[in-house]
Amino acid sequence: MDIDKKVWEVLCSEEDIKKRTKELGEQLSKDYANKKLFVVSLLKGSFIFTADLVRELTIPVKVNFMTSSSYGHGTETSGKVEIQVDVEGDLTEYDVLVVDDITDSGLTMKYVMEHLAKKNAKSIKSCVLLDKPERRKVELVPDYVGFTIPDKFVVGYGLNFGDYYRNIPYVFVVTDKDR
Ligand code: IMP
Ligand code: MG
Repeated sequence: MDIDKKVWEVLCSEEDIKKRTKELGEQLSKDYANKKLFVVSLLKGSFIFTADLVRELTIPVKVNFMTSSSYGHGTETSGKVEIQVDVEGDLTEYDVLVVDDITDSGLTMKYVMEHLAKKNAKSIKSCVLLDKPERRKVELVPDYVGFTIPDKFVVGYGLNFGDYYRNIPYVFVVTDKDR
């Protein structure tokens, strides 16, 4: 990506994200008040969102990680989801919340939820910072959504392009200057 030829369009500012994450944390703290919440964070994209979200929870929570991938190095899903690192431990008795940065085609979340369902959790729900419903290829409606966004490739706040931009504290779209 030739950075000189690009402009950054901010989609979700730091303030927007902080406010919305706090709201989600409050909602989840209510919804899981009498349950045993087990957050499964999908690496690498959701590491920042998960870190901020769990710190907004006022209830006990266990946090664990899974690595999956469906994207090669491009901006389109390969259509095939692979689990590289599975979640450790027994999920029996737990109410699992799968946390991801974004749902696009829906393939990743659907695959991961079906995979975790085999581990006998009490319930399995999903929470994503960003949702691009226009891009859906499978039937999937995330249970908790930070922001619904248009069909654009976004980066920042954990989301990457070629493994860069994850550290930028807001979500933005990279577009060509002459478009
Ligand atoms: P899905 O399986 O097509 O729903 O894609 C989900 C995964 O693709 C997410 O966990 C992201 O890692 C990645 N992804 C999808 N859309 C974007 C985007 O706009 N920017 C960066 N990564 C994305
Ligand atoms: Mg991802």
